Amino acid sequence: MKRYYIETFGCQMNVHDSEKMAGILKLEGYTETDSAKNADIVIFNTCSIRQKAEQKFFSELGRIKALKKRRPDLKIAVAGCIAQQEGSKIIERASYVDYVVGPQNIHILRDIATSEAGSIYTEDNPHITDVDIPADRRDNVRAWVNIMYGCNNFCSYCIVPYTRGRERSRASQSIINEIKDLAEKGYKEVTLLGQNVNSYKSNVDFPGLLKEINKIEGIKRIRFVTSHPKDISDELIYAIRDLDKVCEHIHLPLQSGSSKILALMNRKYTYDDYMKKIEQLKREIPEIAITSDIIAGFPQETDEDHNHTIKALKEVEFDSIFAFKFSPRPGTKASTIDGQLPDDIKSVRLSEILELQNTITERKNKELKGTIQEVLIEGVDEKSTGKFSGRTRTNKIVNIPSEDNAEPGDIITVKITRARRHSLEGEIV
Ligand code: SAH
Ligand code: SF4
Ligand code: F3S
Repeated sequence: MKRYYIETFGCQMNVHDSEKMAGILKLEGYTETDSAKNADIVIFNTCSIRQKAEQKFFSELGRIKALKKRRPDLKIAVAGCIAQQEGSKIIERASYVDYVVGPQNIHILRDIATSEAGSIYTEDNPHITDVDIPADRRDNVRAWVNIMYGCNNFCSYCIVPYTRGRERSRASQSIINEIKDLAEKGYKEVTLLGQNVNSYKSNVDFPGLLKEINKIEGIKRIRFVTSHPKDISDELIYAIRDLDKVCEHIHLPLQSGSSKILALMNRKYTYDDYMKKIEQLKREIPEIAITSDIIAGFPQETDEDHNHTIKALKEVEFDSIFAFKFSPRPGTKASTIDGQLPDDIKSVRLSEILELQNTITERKNKELKGTIQEVLIEGVDEKSTGKFSGRTRTNKIVNIPSEDNAEPGDIITVKITRARRHSLEGEIV
């Protein structure tokens, strides 16, 4: 019996790519093992979005060297965004790595057992949208579904267009077939994945695709990430408003509240443009939850620019955000422009952003106390046995201490009894 072990870093795209790798290896007769020690092949599915993510991977990789020395037959593959970015340099740096496989070339894992050590698979793959790789999914209720690959936006700080290649949309029919199959298997929720789902284009556009998926029987909830503010159309807003399965939540990365910094980031919208979209979203879908990403300490960001971001957080009142210190990435424009800021300034600004957002998130959660919410049960709340946990349509986690019976996949009506910063508590009504 051959065994595989996959360690995944990075975003949902990578999490789902790992499910596809697992799917391929399963077909090749491998089973999963929970430790590199027992594996015949170890795959690192890597992320290079920020320097920290990269460092984390290289220290993990260093740790496997001794294992490879003891068991030279162990195969080690580096996949994901660092694989694409660094290519053969990974093997130059760590000669015990056998294969380097970029995100567009996952399908070659089919032949991994017969591949020559030292093989590098990083070529551009225009056929990525044609091959349907069977994913071995980790969850039975919620599923990730790719609708497009790559990115054409070239935000000046971002490595993704270099690691994931050009933007390519999957044919709507193959997306719909995949989701119908998921519905038959009992899945209740799908999250459509793309770096910029709003620019999805095949025989239908993104709102058109949502309309088609909304018709699929058995699927109860549709989510999607990520939306680019420059591409939010009226049709998309109406689709969220009118399609019953499309959840009232949008992740809409602002990045900065300063239009000067947004221009330097090549985001193609101003803060005013962004705010207009927010107002329209809130007007059309009053219960909508809006989440965002913020970068602190971009090159040339002054105290005044930073204060624009602080002001934006107060004006928009996001439900929650991910915030990061700017990290210069090799080959990107922002890594070489003048006015790079020292780490201590980035840290101070990041803390200020996070502190403010924490109070806003908590306040927004408290407002939900006493309300009635539809919750999709995902599983048992790990921290306190016997409690169920699930999410509202607005993507907030709800823990339910209950004697009643509920199972993963059930949709129940819950009254919110308590609000914490990162989760809610409720009782079944
Ligand atoms: N395609 C998505 C996600 C991109 S990566 C989008 O456009 O939003 C997720 C987040 O990481 C980005 O939104 C950005 O806030 C952050 N990020 C990307 N590159 C970064 C960098 N070099 N330094 C710090 N944060 C970065
Ligand atoms: Fe990166 Fe911008 Fe593309 Fe998002 S839209 S992946 S931030 S280049
Ligand atoms: Fe995702 Fe990291 Fe690549 S965030 S797209 S795995 S660089």
